Amino acid sequence: MSLENVDNNEEKFYTNAVNYWSEIPATIDGMLGGFGFISQTDIKGSKMLLNQLFNSKDPPEKHYALDCGAGIGRISKFLLTETFEKVDMVEQNEDFLQQAKQYLGPKVDKIGNFYPEGLQNFQPETGKYDVIWIQWVLGHLTNADLIQFLISCGKGLKKNGVIVIKENVTSSDEIEKDEQDSSITRPLRHYHTIFQKAKLECYRQLKQQNFPKGLFPVYMFILRPSGDILNEMSHENNLVKLENVHDNCKKDNVICETIIQHDSDLKDKNATSSDIVEFKNSTNNDENKINIESLLKFDDSMKTSLDNQ
Ligand SMILES: C[S@@+](CC[C@H](N)C(=O)[O-])C[C@H]1O[C@@H](n2cnc3c(N)ncnc32)[C@H](O)[C@@H]1O
Repeated sequence: MSLENVDNNEEKFYTNAVNYWSEIPATIDGMLGGFGFISQTDIKGSKMLLNQLFNSKDPPEKHYALDCGAGIGRISKFLLTETFEKVDMVEQNEDFLQQAKQYLGPKVDKIGNFYPEGLQNFQPETGKYDVIWIQWVLGHLTNADLIQFLISCGKGLKKNGVIVIKENVTSSDEIEKDEQDSSITRPLRHYHTIFQKAKLECYRQLKQQNFPKGLFPVYMFILRPSGDILNEMSHENNLVKLENVHDNCKKDNVICETIIQHDSDLKDKNATSSDIVEFKNSTNNDENKINIESLLKFDDSMKTSLDNQ
């Protein structure tokens, strides 16, 4: 299944998803396709990511968050209203939003707006949000709409604001289509291409741990509009962040150490950007190549500084 196929049958792709969700009970199990029991583990992983974010340099404020594809408000209830003063919810199924008003209990007071809209038609208010949280919904957007939506999310951020995406990814390098709920699951590589096209910089990427075997791998990405991050982060910072991000994954730690070691080697011998690209290409694991690419940021400023050494 190619992305072009999805993009060319856009109307059917969206109406089939609306029809699918209209038959789904407004419960946690309904939201998580019968895997309601993973909700706590999911929230725990997300809290860890938010903690890392708030302990980083120039963190966002904790004033306003947006929950995208919010369903009945599972994430708003257990994660976002715990951290932020106010939360808006955008969700295309109005019944889920109605149910959210009950399900959230007293936390409903923290909800600013309920937006009953598809993300493909929604534009966040400019400069409003500290964090825009998007989870388990992007497979319902076509490539073109996803890029447009992410661009408008970038505009919806306050200073130091971030977009957090938490999504299934395929283990293969291929897109997988689910005809039943009319969604696609993208490989990691596609997400990174999409982020680039939306002019977003992925400065942290973390794999959710402790989910049952047999599910798609789930990744969390923290994204900022590209210009901000290039100005504020040095290459050394990126290496430290790389270590921190992967502190719970032995394999990645080894890779991280290797990069750091190679990095000083590369610097010692007055390496140019092409030496680094060659090093990246010499790793033999696709996923790690992507980690290296996104976390070491082979961006223009770094290339320039290395080439000028
Ligand atoms: C798998 S559930 C996840 C709900 C919530 N994010 C969570 O993790 O509990 C997917 C949600 O996305 C909503 N959805 C599907 N397509 C959408 C679209 N194009 N725009 C907005 N919401 C959509 C569904 O109605 C459903 O509530």
